[in-house]
Amino acid sequence: MNYSIRQMTTDDINDIIIGEEKIFGESLGYDMLYSELTLNPYAYYFVLEIDSKINGYIGTWIDPDHAEIVNFYIDEKYQGLGFGSMMLEFFIELCDSCNVPNISLEVREHNLKAQSLYKKYGFEFSHKREKYYKDSEDALVLIKKMR
Ligand SMILES: CC(C)(COP(=O)(O)OP(=O)(O)OC[C@H]1O[C@@H](n2cnc3c(N)ncnc32)[C@H](O)[C@@H]1OP(=O)(O)O)[C@@H](O)C(=O)NCCC(=O)NCCS
Repeated sequence: MNYSIRQMTTDDINDIIIGEEKIFGESLGYDMLYSELTLNPYAYYFVLEIDSKINGYIGTWIDPDHAEIVNFYIDEKYQGLGFGSMMLEFFIELCDSCNVPNISLEVREHNLKAQSLYKKYGFEFSHKREKYYKDSEDALVLIKKMR
């Protein structure tokens, strides 16, 4: 199995939309992803390629004061094999090299798998955003202090 993490390009958008819809039941959508990649100077998006196919991605924002994980998935076929940890570590190292003071994210209250991953990397519960998702599930805001 050959795998690598590389910067996402606009040519990857359609694959990511298919992946997001499969995993989350919805996607950020072509226009949003396109403008993130071409217009947002704070957007850092990376894809996971396994045997030349896209099987995951992490979409993030990094500015000098703060970093945020916008979206993140690993294709079901490859979950539980360490790829999520690899991508998260990659992103944390990038934030470290940019001297970012903290990283935040939102995670569904019932998504214990993702919460367990984030906890492993030092993210801590900050507060709850009630009925944050379209189906009214609450979001937990988690923060990792970097320095
Ligand atoms: C969350 C996600 C990105 C993790 O990716 P992954 O490749 O499966 O993660 P890893 O194999 O590196 O496992 C990392 C940690 O996740 C947790 N984890 C993985 N599978 C788990 C399971 N079945 N049950 C509970 N925790 C689990 C563990 O803490 C694990 O660490 P460990 O192996 O030291 O115990 C992936 O499961 C996914 O895409 N889920 C659906 C989308 C999603 O929830 N995205 C995050 C939105 S905030």
